[in-house]
Amino acid sequence: MRTGLEWMAVALLAVGLLSGCEREERATGANPLHLPPPGFIGDGRKGAVVYRKNCQGCHGVDATGTAQGPSLLRDIYAPGRHANLAFHLAVKNGVRAHHDNKGDMPSLDVSPEDVEHVIQYVRELQVKAGVFKP
Ligand code: HEC
Repeated sequence: MRTGLEWMAVALLAVGLLSGCEREERATGANPLHLPPPGFIGDGRKGAVVYRKNCQGCHGVDATGTAQGPSLLRDIYAPGRHANLAFHLAVKNGVRAHHDNKGDMPSLDVSPEDVEHVIQYVRELQVKAGVFKP
């Protein structure tokens, strides 16, 4: 049997957690991590189309890099070092140059689903280039 005091503690904790979440959402807006719905699976062929339109100008044909953006076929961009979340955040928030001196990446207006397709496309290129083994 729980005592009245214990129930009160549980209730206060619940209220605290709920209002905490509300504050968090108001502070950061909807979908702050820019992720697609759980279970969404990227399609590399769709990703290639999105990539050509939104990323290729800087990251180059087949993600091999240009003077405006790094190649994404380097070890540092393998899943163990730049997880998929890093791609979503890069597109949503932009990136301050920290690995290269090719300037900053601006934030881009690409949906979380389309970014997930691009990630799948880039991971396939990385596997082909031997950056990591699936
Ligand atoms: C205007 C040029 C430009 C465009 C367009 C662009 N990028 Fe970038 N991107 C950069 C630069 C510059 C960097 C920063 C390199 C550094 O760290 O010095 C970067 C970094 C990144 C990184 C690494 C982020 C990190 O945490 O270090 C990822 C991932 C990335 N870009 C993905 C994308 C994707 C996906 C697209 C298309 C949807 C895209 N970029 C479009 C220029 C661009």
